[in-house]
Amino acid sequence: MSSKEFFDRVARDWDEMREGYYSDDVRVSALAAAAVEAGKVAADIGAGTGFITQGLIEEGLQVIAVDQSEVILDEMKTKFARHPAIDYRVGHAQDIPIPGDTVDYAFANMCLHHVESPPDAIREMARILKPGGTLVITDADEHEFEFLREEHHDRWLGFKRSDIGTWFEAAGLQDVRVDDAGTCCEVQSFCCEDFARIGIFLATGQKPAA
Ligand SMILES: C[S@@+](CC[C@H](N)C(=O)[O-])C[C@H]1O[C@@H](n2cnc3c(N)ncnc32)[C@H](O)[C@@H]1O
Repeated sequence: MSSKEFFDRVARDWDEMREGYYSDDVRVSALAAAAVEAGKVAADIGAGTGFITQGLIEEGLQVIAVDQSEVILDEMKTKFARHPAIDYRVGHAQDIPIPGDTVDYAFANMCLHHVESPPDAIREMARILKPGGTLVITDADEHEFEFLREEHHDRWLGFKRSDIGTWFEAAGLQDVRVDDAGTCCEVQSFCCEDFARIGIFLATGQKPAA
């Protein structure tokens, strides 16, 4: 099963599953790191059912929500049916369906460990930022819980923070920081007693002003 098939299948249950894996603290930290401002435009890459988007619209931003899974975006559309400030686009993190220099912020929470090439996805997220825009990625620290490949179709077992910093800089971002998000991700195996407790990093960088 591919990651897309997995998220198609769990789309209806994702909110409940996600609540068991990580808390709203991730979103609070991500939005605070970007110091988001009302009226600006943000992209939520690998948006799922809109965990990050929810915080952004509550802060008065417009959101372009991108996900590989049309099924999970349909769930999100139902959930946010009364919010006109969201534009939904099916697409891939390595080929984001947004023109360059378009958004003030790009966020990706727990998407990077699913993509084929994390450095290419980071370069794409940097591409869509306006000059002076901010990229915020929250994802898993490097870990050894192999069952997540099998059960959640994770492609990468988290990341070294030093690699994330290197990829941000290679994408042309400046003022790069990779810190602890201050919270963890916890996953109980579906089928055995394996239990993963994994740190979450919060990476930020700015596209140079024109
Ligand atoms: C772990 S979920 C996180 C969803 C949401 N950001 C959240 O925090 O609840 C990962 C999401 O990334 C999407 N995804 C995985 N690989 C992707 C890719 N290459 N391009 C776009 N979306 C992708 C999945 O379909 C899924 O919705």
